[in-house]
Amino acid sequence: MIYKVAVITSSPNKDGLTAACGNHARRGAEEAGAEVDEIDLNFYELLRCGACGTGYGTCRTDHCCQAEDDFGGLHKRLLTADAYIVVSPVYWGDMSESAKAFFDRVRRCEATLREESRLKGKPCIGVAAAGGGGGGTITCLLTMQQFFNHVRSEIFDLITITRKSREYKLHAIESAGKAMVEYMKTVKAG
Ligand SMILES: Cc1cc2nc3c(=O)[nH]c(=O)nc-3n(C[C@H](O)[C@H](O)[C@H](O)COP(=O)(O)O)c2cc1C
Repeated sequence: MIYKVAVITSSPNKDGLTAACGNHARRGAEEAGAEVDEIDLNFYELLRCGACGTGYGTCRTDHCCQAEDDFGGLHKRLLTADAYIVVSPVYWGDMSESAKAFFDRVRRCEATLREESRLKGKPCIGVAAAGGGGGGTITCLLTMQQFFNHVRSEIFDLITITRKSREYKLHAIESAGKAMVEYMKTVKAG
């Protein structure tokens, strides 16, 4: 079986740290034989959640979003993946705005399915890519961890990286991508 891994990045900087992390994550997953679907959220039109009605719209009733933009197609691509890796630059100690816009809406569609969440049990890795100081990487990962828990995914690893740790952490990200696919082939497949 060939596993499909979605690598989701969310930085406007095409040559920055986030992009490098995404490339290494892809490389690792491919080394283990996975097929990778790369999604750069900054290339798409993603509105923020409108908190429709009195707080919920079709996210609660039909588990899809009623806003008309690129969300529906990207949500489907994520759901077709067997595992996923999220890489966000650290902005204000949190995920980037494009990542928040996307994952806030995915959470509403999936967390409202509770145990039937279509992301339930899917292995995932979160990467917080920061500047030199690295302040805020932990809170960024906390936000990601909350998302993963709300949609009942299986956290494989949570990784911080800064400009200072870039060289060795890029190797770690590649290794993590590879190890996650190996884990799916062995442990998860039984
Ligand atoms: C709006 C904004 C807020 C930022 N906030 C933080 C922060 O809280 N902590 C930190 O270490 N770096 C922060 N940075 C620096 C970025 O995390 C860092 O430059 C990162 O490498 C950006 O990813 P990129 O290389 O993909 O652009 C911020 C950058 C921007 C543009």
